[in-house]
Amino acid sequence: SPVLASTREELADLLAHARRSGRRVETGAGRPPEDERVCLVPTMGALHEGHASLIRTAREATAGPVVVSIFVNPMQFAPTEDLDRYPRTLDADLEVCAAEGADVVFAPSVEEMYPGGFSHDSVRDGVTVAPGALGEILDGASRPGHFDGVLTVVAKLFGLVRPDLAVFGEKDYQQLTLIRRMVRDLCMGIEIVGAETVREPDGLAMSSRNRYLDATERRTAVALSRALRVAQERAPYGVPAARWAAMSILNVEPGLELDYLALTSTDLGEAPETGEGRILVAARVGTTRLIDNMPIAFD
Ligand code: PAJ
Repeated sequence: SPVLASTREELADLLAHARRSGRRVETGAGRPPEDERVCLVPTMGALHEGHASLIRTAREATAGPVVVSIFVNPMQFAPTEDLDRYPRTLDADLEVCAAEGADVVFAPSVEEMYPGGFSHDSVRDGVTVAPGALGEILDGASRPGHFDGVLTVVAKLFGLVRPDLAVFGEKDYQQLTLIRRMVRDLCMGIEIVGAETVREPDGLAMSSRNRYLDATERRTAVALSRALRVAQERAPYGVPAARWAAMSILNVEPGLELDYLALTSTDLGEAPETGEGRILVAARVGTTRLIDNMPIAFD
């Protein structure tokens, strides 16, 4: 089972040892052998089958150390959001990490990640990562500052672990797109692997926030994935037809308050006339904000 590190120092010691002792052997060629690369899977815990599939992807990608980080990052939550009620289930999380073959679990305190303690004001006095225009649309429009928080903490985790590759889920498609952009624009040289969304049998995308839903809300929530699927089927008739099909499902769902439905290119620009694109949705069901997205082919 994996070794738990709660401090940056413990993490550094474990990684130094792993890098010395053959889980990752320096070849002198300036680059570790392909199969001994260090892989990071960043999470906020409350691990479910979606997270497990990311760890599995990491385990298959390298024979070197797989590091799972578990940290509920206060910087990516607005003061009005669910930071305090966000689920924390470390013991169960460690079992998931063990079952999927992770080597190290890094679960730092807030103080460890934000020395001196966290506040939105104090952190913005320092250096943070600005996501640019892509951070201001879609989820960024509804959650100002959210992606500054995500990119800043991911950059810090990259600095602490110095991974060769990192795995992120397509479930958070705008996040995945922004992380690819950050790595490219800031020349971080880390390979970013995207993993497909894992769903419940009825199609609902797995999420740590699904546990907030009561039975009625849970039935309502499935409208998100149903709307995306119907749009995928209508996509050959063009963007307006696909959008109309999705809206005809979302509009009739009582208890669902739509935030956005967006049809885009694969990099979140304007939807193409033909070829691959993306369809993304966000909605509030009760007090819970849910997001989902799927590939869509306009042909
Ligand atoms: P969290 O919501 O815990 O998600 C951690 C990773 O799991 C993300 O890459 C996310 O896209 C992926 N994931 C979540 N649900 C998934 C599903 N149903 N199928 C596949 N992958 C899924 O995303 C975050 O944490 C944070 O923003 C983080 C990147 C850790 C920075 O704090």
